Amino acid sequence: MGTDPTTQTLAQLGDNTPEQVAPRFAEIRARFDFEISSDSNTGNWPAFIARWTGRKSGVLTEIGDNWLKPAPPRLKKVVGQEFQKLKAHVESALEAKRKEIESAAEQAAAARDRIDLSLPGIERAIGTRHIIRQTYEELVRIFVSIGFSVVEGPEIETPYYNFEALNIPEHHPARDNMDTFYIEGAREPHLLRTHTSPMQIRTMEKQPPPVRIIVPGKVYRRDNPDATHGYMFHQIEGLAVDTDITFCDFKGTVEYFVREFFGPKAKTRLRPSYFPFTEPSAEVDATCHVCGGSGCRICKFSGWIELSGAGMVNPAVYGFVKNGYDAAKHSGFAFGMGIDRLAMMKYGVTELPLLFQNDVRFLRQFP
Ligand code: DAH
Repeated sequence: MGTDPTTQTLAQLGDNTPEQVAPRFAEIRARFDFEISSDSNTGNWPAFIARWTGRKSGVLTEIGDNWLKPAPPRLKKVVGQEFQKLKAHVESALEAKRKEIESAAEQAAAARDRIDLSLPGIERAIGTRHIIRQTYEELVRIFVSIGFSVVEGPEIETPYYNFEALNIPEHHPARDNMDTFYIEGAREPHLLRTHTSPMQIRTMEKQPPPVRIIVPGKVYRRDNPDATHGYMFHQIEGLAVDTDITFCDFKGTVEYFVREFFGPKAKTRLRPSYFPFTEPSAEVDATCHVCGGSGCRICKFSGWIELSGAGMVNPAVYGFVKNGYDAAKHSGFAFGMGIDRLAMMKYGVTELPLLFQNDVRFLRQFP
């Protein structure tokens, strides 16, 4: 639409007859109706309102100033009536349009926020239990089922519990095998335990016979890390002491454990060995889980895998403990095995570092 309605002067209006007034207002009304129907005008809503109803220079104000106020007496009444009609029309149309714009905005916002329950959800990966943990829980389950209870102990130990009380005196060659991390600066000498065996002593000191415990936990050695060694690994210790425990009880316990853990076909073999805290001592082997005993790279073609150090508790150990443990009356067996090794055997993992790198591509394979 071309000319601004307000450019029509009062002089022009004044020349009109009363009958000609209404059509002039009708022109303005038509212009308003046209403008309000176009989004390009109402898109800038504040500007549009100001153009029509602005107090200083809105169209209605201009008409009031230029047409109504100076109208000659013969036109005053009709101009006044037409002006009121126009004003009412403009105001109610603006109000209706305002509501329309607001509800459109609300609907758009609602559409944006709507949740479509039929869409597939986002699947978030949840973690799995680490195979060391799975193995740990399996070990606990098996031993608890035959009457053992679980205890844990400190990883920072004294040489007394880690060595002396286990019948490993200073300068004993067994200390050399266990490259030990010593803790510097402590008032008393301390070290990171090299095995879980110290908990044999700590438990017996607290608990008079009988005792039947397993001790899972972390141990530390200054090994050079390679495919099967790290400077931290997990062990599980076992100890059973009572008045009539024999080597047979020990063998039966180990065989039961091996069948439970590796399956009913798994066999057990004992070889003589030496540990200062057991007498006699044995090394427990189980049939290789990979080849089932026929021989493969993993078992170095022997068909057997070394599982555990073990033996009957050395009477010398009771001498350190006292607390009612009497070598003349009591006997018992002990064993210690690597949890990580057991996990590797059971799950067919050949590289120890994989257990500690926490690469999700590895971890995901053991849900
Ligand atoms: N503590 C030994 C080690 O770490 C393993 C061991 C051997 C534990 C014989 C025992 C045992 O309880 O009786 O090499």
